[in-house]
Amino acid sequence: MKNNKNLKKILSPLPTISVSLLNSDLANLKQTVELVERAGVRLIHLDIMDGHFVPNLTFGAPVIKCLRKYSGCIFDVHLMIENPQKSISNYIEAGGDIIVVHFESVSRKQLLKIVSLVKKFGRFVGISIKPKTDVEKIFKYLPLVDLVLVMTVEPGFGGQKMLNNCVSKIKILNKYREENKLEFLISADGGINEGTIVEIINSGCDVPVVGNAIFSDKNFTKKIRFFNSLTKKLKFDNKKY
Ligand code: DX5
Ligand code: ZN
Repeated sequence: MKNNKNLKKILSPLPTISVSLLNSDLANLKQTVELVERAGVRLIHLDIMDGHFVPNLTFGAPVIKCLRKYSGCIFDVHLMIENPQKSISNYIEAGGDIIVVHFESVSRKQLLKIVSLVKKFGRFVGISIKPKTDVEKIFKYLPLVDLVLVMTVEPGFGGQKMLNNCVSKIKILNKYREENKLEFLISADGGINEGTIVEIINSGCDVPVVGNAIFSDKNFTKKIRFFNSLTKKLKFDNKKY
């Protein structure tokens, strides 16, 4: 997906889920991306961890490049790595469509460089904040980015319980977006399941990331269809208000 279009338009109708593969059977990634796409998913969330920025270690650009051959989904690349400025072009070349960097992992100058590099290659750029980072700190960058990823757990592991105090950040971002007529999308990541997704979406989240709630079920494609129809219904319900 190489273009300079508006991410909101490409992903509409919103909200839409982004499926995190972190808690899937990592020995079967090819089959999983194929099944996920066939189940009606448009966004695949790829969690890149380096064992430094977060204690866990996953996979990198070479794996994304291999998966790219088997999927037409939008690859939403969540970089939980130190010094992302050093390897950002690898993730672009590998076929990442939305490149998300952590605000805490870069200097302001590096962040601006990353934003312009990603845009130069016609991809979308996102900025993510950890639970302890104040959302106000990223306000000045919001006109420049396509997406904000609000972490609703401490990054590093799938299957954690959502931290309720992070939901207020989604509400603050949604209000700020409306007041300033901005176009960035709001995504949220961590502990999103049947019980928490309604509150997340009603707070203003356009792209809830769902991982463990899908892959903890043996019949994960059925679970994907459940989340897809639930998000459609929530959109419908929202219209009533
Ligand atoms: C955690 C990751 C998440 C995670 C999703 O650091 O960024 O993407 O896999 O969380 P769960 O598994 O709770 O849906
Ligand atoms: Zn993630």
